[in-house]
Amino acid sequence: MKITGHCLLTALLALASGPLLAAQPTPGEDAAAAQKARVASMLTGEEGEKHDVSELFGGLVQDLPSPDPLMTNVDGRAHQTLNGAWNVVVDEHSMGAKGLFGTAYYTPPEPQTGMELVEFSFDPRRQLEVPGDWNTQDERLYRYRDIVWYQRDFDLQKAAGKRYYLHFDGVNYKAHVYLNGKPLATHRGGYTAFNVDVTDAAKDGSNYLVVRVDAYLDDSTIPTKRTSDFFKYGGIIRDVDLVTVPATYARQYQFYLADLASGRVDGWVQLDGPQAANREIKVDIDEAGVHTSARTDANGRATFSFTAKLDLWSPEHPRLYDVAVSDGDEQVVDRIGFRTIAIEGKQILLNGKPVYLRGVALHDESILKPGMANDRADAEASLGLARELNANYVRLAHYPHNEHTLRVADELGLMVWSEIPIVSLIDWANPDTLQQALGMVRDNIDRDRNRASIVFWSVSNESMPQSPERLAFLTQLAEQARSLDESARPIASALVGDPAEFKEILKRLVAELLFDPQVTDPKVKQQLAGMAKKMIGDDDAVQKVLHGELEVMLRDPLGEVVDLIGYNEYFGWYYSAGLSRVLPVDEATTRRTMLNIMKDVRFRNAFGKPIVISEFGAGAKKGFVSEHGPGAIWSEEYQAKVYEKQLDMLGRSDFVQGISPWVLKDFRSAMRPLNGIQELYNRKGLVSETGERKQAFFVLRDFYAQKSGK
Ligand code: GCU
Repeated sequence: MKITGHCLLTALLALASGPLLAAQPTPGEDAAAAQKARVASMLTGEEGEKHDVSELFGGLVQDLPSPDPLMTNVDGRAHQTLNGAWNVVVDEHSMGAKGLFGTAYYTPPEPQTGMELVEFSFDPRRQLEVPGDWNTQDERLYRYRDIVWYQRDFDLQKAAGKRYYLHFDGVNYKAHVYLNGKPLATHRGGYTAFNVDVTDAAKDGSNYLVVRVDAYLDDSTIPTKRTSDFFKYGGIIRDVDLVTVPATYARQYQFYLADLASGRVDGWVQLDGPQAANREIKVDIDEAGVHTSARTDANGRATFSFTAKLDLWSPEHPRLYDVAVSDGDEQVVDRIGFRTIAIEGKQILLNGKPVYLRGVALHDESILKPGMANDRADAEASLGLARELNANYVRLAHYPHNEHTLRVADELGLMVWSEIPIVSLIDWANPDTLQQALGMVRDNIDRDRNRASIVFWSVSNESMPQSPERLAFLTQLAEQARSLDESARPIASALVGDPAEFKEILKRLVAELLFDPQVTDPKVKQQLAGMAKKMIGDDDAVQKVLHGELEVMLRDPLGEVVDLIGYNEYFGWYYSAGLSRVLPVDEATTRRTMLNIMKDVRFRNAFGKPIVISEFGAGAKKGFVSEHGPGAIWSEEYQAKVYEKQLDMLGRSDFVQGISPWVLKDFRSAMRPLNGIQELYNRKGLVSETGERKQAFFVLRDFYAQKSGK
């Protein structure tokens, strides 16, 4: 292998660095050092020695250690924001971790003499806002799903007895964190928070912080690239903070109403640090006259149980209390609401009383600006719309939303379905994918366990197929959530229709069409009669189907594992399109017939558990006027009609204890290319991407007003 001129140069440079020559890189050794060694051995190695030149170029970068255990309630601690403009380098070839000549992008710059060949720079000529996705900030990055390096400096004066953490509320998808040239940690998962202890790596004065963000998704990631209908934004999408805590600090804690009748509050505090054992922890809730304390055990954990006269948190009365946790070195104050949530038979009990969930589903996208939501104003705008709908509940799909949203939900009194992005097809048999998922459940609960608004932890959305691997995978997630949340929030999952269910709907459609006076073609009638005979039976059986209930019985074995059954159904939208393909009539006829039979549909499940219709909906482009006349597909009229039919249908199923129509706002999705209508937006929003209300918005608002007795 003949080595070219510039490689020779690199090798000479490496020679200058002396002892590095002989050593070959070991796994985990930083890529830059390995690159230097690689170039050197290519130049100084024995004649004819084999070298894998592909390693000279970019590629996979070793994961660094995992971040440190997550702290809760950053806002209740000493912290400095690192939000703002960060310098960036777009690294499509994944060269940055080692650089061509072994100068990695995370290495603090050396003084220059003007004779150094460095082909990247972090400076204000190319920046991105943090928090923020890069896709809507820089049109060159709109469809970019690869690597961007972020860099900024921050000043610090270290104090004795203190620890310093970098806290990220969300980096999509994989983040490598470097400080002052030291590779520190890798986090995977775009929607869960993580923090890195930088006490040792940080120095007094200016610190050089670099984050490598890789937005690449494949079939082993969560979510996968292909099988989920939402835009995969890239970047440091949420708040970044430098948090200062004592050497031993109250990393996690939880306080919740354990018994409604007695007003018993249970809780615990977990200290983290060298002096965690046998420490007195004080808990004060001044407004409730609570002043109590407990000592930590050998593992730094203190448990509490006390009774208090508390106003219960509810949508009608979202009362929050300042709960102060003091460990002698630091006092952390959190705003916590106290309520109970439980499942009893087919009912959902909030504070011991049956509650109907008047909900809406939404993605973590802003109404106020393009791209992802990431601040309080975004949360107030979206949840304010939900409130305008007279909702008392929101489904935050399909991943943990930014923390501002949960804080505002607490304050506004909106109950929350919180989920992790296990969406449809996941690599169920892949142990690494399982570890990622278990980590996401843990991180989601570690950040939000004290949010009164969160009433359900969901482990998946439309997960398929119904295989033993899938069931085993999701069962482990449910058990993880139960073991981590002592307040025992119900575990949920959004199930989806299976072939058996569609068969029942098809039978009914065939029976309807057979006796439909508008279906006159004798050949079609004959085909329908044949289908009726084969699928249903004789005339009596057909009459029974025609005049009977249309039962949708959920039997998915995951229903046994969860406490609450979410169900996504699309009567009036997808079902008509799909089933018209197996009927001898056109889609328009199928759709008309479907809308007519919806009143007879009854949702039940084989597990005697409550059902929440976690999705239903129809697409409409705001203001769209169809050439086919009013009420056509994509018109607001058609969407509104589907809502009327759905709300009527769902009110007739006593298993259905709540709904969260899909979806509050039109949201970006690469799955939606229809020109002139979708333009890479899913148009099932009740409002457009800029918040314009569609007719269906008012249909739902008025239904909820009536349902809530307004
Ligand atoms: C699914 C899915 C959503 C998707 C919706 C739709 O049920 O859960 O993520 O956006 O349907 O097709 O609009």
